[in-house]
Amino acid sequence: MPATRRGFLASCGTTAAAAAIPYFFSTPRTLGDETKAKNDRITVGLIGSGSIAKANINAAKDWIDLVAIADVDADRADQFNAKFADGKAAVHSDYRHILERKDIDVVHVATPDHWHTKPVVEAMLAGKDVYCEKPLTLTIDEGKLIRKIQKQTGRIVQVGTQQRSDFEHFIPAMAIVAEGRLGRIKKVQAAIGAAPSSPSIPVADVPKGLNWDRWLGPAPVAEYRFLTDPETAGKETQQKTNCHYGFRWWYEYSGGKLTDWGAHHVDIATWALMLNGQTAGPTGISGSAVHPVAFKDGVPVERDRYNTATSFLFKVDFPGGTQMVIRDDTENGVLIEGEKGSIFVARKKLAGAPVDALKDDPLPEGALQRVYKNLPMQDNERKGHWANFFHCVKTRQEPISDVHSHMKMLNICHLAGISARLGRPLAWNDAGERITGDDQADAMLSRPYRKGYEIEHASS
Ligand SMILES: NC(=O)c1ccc[n+]([C@@H]2O[C@H](COP(=O)([O-])OP(=O)(O)OC[C@H]3O[C@@H](n4cnc5c(N)ncnc54)[C@H](O)[C@@H]3O)[C@@H](O)[C@H]2O)c1
Repeated sequence: MPATRRGFLASCGTTAAAAAIPYFFSTPRTLGDETKAKNDRITVGLIGSGSIAKANINAAKDWIDLVAIADVDADRADQFNAKFADGKAAVHSDYRHILERKDIDVVHVATPDHWHTKPVVEAMLAGKDVYCEKPLTLTIDEGKLIRKIQKQTGRIVQVGTQQRSDFEHFIPAMAIVAEGRLGRIKKVQAAIGAAPSSPSIPVADVPKGLNWDRWLGPAPVAEYRFLTDPETAGKETQQKTNCHYGFRWWYEYSGGKLTDWGAHHVDIATWALMLNGQTAGPTGISGSAVHPVAFKDGVPVERDRYNTATSFLFKVDFPGGTQMVIRDDTENGVLIEGEKGSIFVARKKLAGAPVDALKDDPLPEGALQRVYKNLPMQDNERKGHWANFFHCVKTRQEPISDVHSHMKMLNICHLAGISARLGRPLAWNDAGERITGDDQADAMLSRPYRKGYEIEHASS
């Protein structure tokens, strides 16, 4: 593929090949070049050595020394250490040992969602920069706390929404929006897929090496559940449990699909609106959701099976009549509908008449860089997202998935979750970040923390 304007444009209608990307950087600046020197490596401590940590540490490996791993499952930490640190990292069951170490610059938090806010806040207060997996929080109020502590400490925090560093699809889509090719956006639709239900999952013996009480941490006490099924043995994403991977489908530990994939596609939909000048946040949300169990007062009645929404359709209203739709039933991706045209963007697709029109009327030079806040770029989204973070660690710039833009959109995902659980529309005061006219819903902006797992120094 020639690295020319034509070369890029020819590929733009389907998937813009990575080889075409150099057209956009006549003088590419990549962090890899800056940090490969041995004495310039970043010392990292990992909290949560599960499935996504593998992909992340692999993506960051050129630039880091992984010196400590914390996991409440000792077997997982040991296996991770052997595979990604030649067995040389210090292994802990309590992540606070990592925060105490003065030689660790960066902490990667890759725990389940209910265990994000506490280590992120404590890491910032301990002087660490943080790369935390999405969704950053389990509640709206946790986002307020993280933003407050981030401002107070000046730490760099990147959220793991790596779609924001994808120069094949999502960044070009955002550049098309930013350059006004769609005109005023009327509607954005984030299609994020349906979530699974489960049969009753029996209480099971806690596996050796897993500290279940600490895995639960701030969440309410619950029994460990695991459905032994020879057909799914070894296939973690299919095993039914309230622990590893399966935590996604329990409101106690996650927001279900609404935050699991919402954190990716509602993020892109919100980013598009912001680039289009829609800076005011939403005014309310309405819609419906189907849950696999009955709910009373926003709480699942049956406690032995998955409880997050399996299907849903929400409409989010913005000032000026712009609308966002969050749904499970159409092709996974983001549809951006403007007065001058529409585009559809997904992980392997960028399509629509305004994309085709680039063949004759390309985006101006620098359009992608501007969307990416003129930060260095890489052509691999996960690696690029880490590179973006490390660049910002060095320069103290705000990374591409900063806590402020992340919470702007995650608030919408959380609102959808509250509306789903209560089964009614909600009015939202975006400036005050409160649900109005519904005290029961407003109380769901936060969650109680189990005794012993409160966030330390939360009031400092
Ligand atoms: N960016 C992405 O595309 C992407 C993809 C998958 C997962 N994720 C996110 O990554 C996070 C982890 O997901 P996963 O699928 O890797 O989960 P997982 O269950 O495979 O791994 C989580 C690990 O954290 C450990 N853990 C739990 N509590 C801990 C604590 N207090 N201290 C240390 N370790 C603890 C668990 O024992 C487990 O090993 C989730 O928030 C998820 O949404 C992001």
